[in-house]
Amino acid sequence: MAVENEVNIRHIRQDFPMPSGKLEVLRDINIDLAGGEFVSIVGESGCGKSTLLRIIAGLDKPTDGEVLIGGERVSGVSSKVGILFQESRLLPWYSTEKNIAYGLPKGMDKKEGRERVKTLIETVGLKGFEKALPAQLSGGMQKRVAIARTLAGRPKVLLLDEPFAALDAFTKMNMQEEILRIWEREKITTLLVTHDIDEAIYLGERVVMMSPKPGVIKRVIPIELPEDHSRTSDEFDGYRREIFKGFFGSDQRMSEFF
Ligand SMILES: Nc1ncnc2c1ncn2[C@@H]1O[C@H](COP(=O)(O)OP(=O)(O)OP(=O)(O)O)[C@@H](O)[C@H]1O
Ligand SMILES: [Mg+2]
Repeated sequence: MAVENEVNIRHIRQDFPMPSGKLEVLRDINIDLAGGEFVSIVGESGCGKSTLLRIIAGLDKPTDGEVLIGGERVSGVSSKVGILFQESRLLPWYSTEKNIAYGLPKGMDKKEGRERVKTLIETVGLKGFEKALPAQLSGGMQKRVAIARTLAGRPKVLLLDEPFAALDAFTKMNMQEEILRIWEREKITTLLVTHDIDEAIYLGERVVMMSPKPGVIKRVIPIELPEDHSRTSDEFDGYRREIFKGFFGSDQRMSEFF
């Protein structure tokens, strides 16, 4: 029996036509996410992470393979899936509450919609900024509005494409905690793609390592962190080393990062 919000990525291949022949971007990608699971995919620029998310979201059709959500084959965009892009993509002339309301399901009862927007504003810590325009908010606050807008559609599956890449280190850590809190409460099946190894470990219950040309899955590492997900724990450091070694082969280059 298919669980409503489980995701099965089966034998996904993606080739793009190029003047010199075809560019093989993804080769035989297989990932199963249980309902409510949080999986991080980490890999270098160009390894096909965004391409994979676009296929899962139904924005692009793969050359081969299929994606199932709740047992149903993805054949186009669906309200079951919420996607958060790297840029916030807010409407500049809309206030915080209007931008969030923009993500509500079509035809939702007005009163219910207003209540949902109010709850979401509290969830992402933007109380007091309901009437502010994006230009009056910091980058981190704009990101919060974008998260709330994505959650407004009550997605069963949340896709995060390097959502915090443009933020400073402090805001980024706050946002990661925020996402973790939201996920723990709402238990939305979540797939995050990032090139930030710490972010992948901090958030994921599993980290999928991808390597490029063509994009393939190199390894899958289950993550078990102490309750507080402390970034300075021995466990965290162990995963950090394991993933660095997996990508770079030795401890040598790690000294450049720590
Ligand atoms: N529509 C397209 N047509 C042709 N090539 C494409 C298309 N979309 C992506 N590519 C190519 O596919 C490869 C993977 O791109 P993708 O955007 O998925 O990488 P990524 O892992 O998300 O990288 P980044 O971390 O920089 O965002 C790149 O070589 C890119 O040039
Ligand atoms: Mg990308």
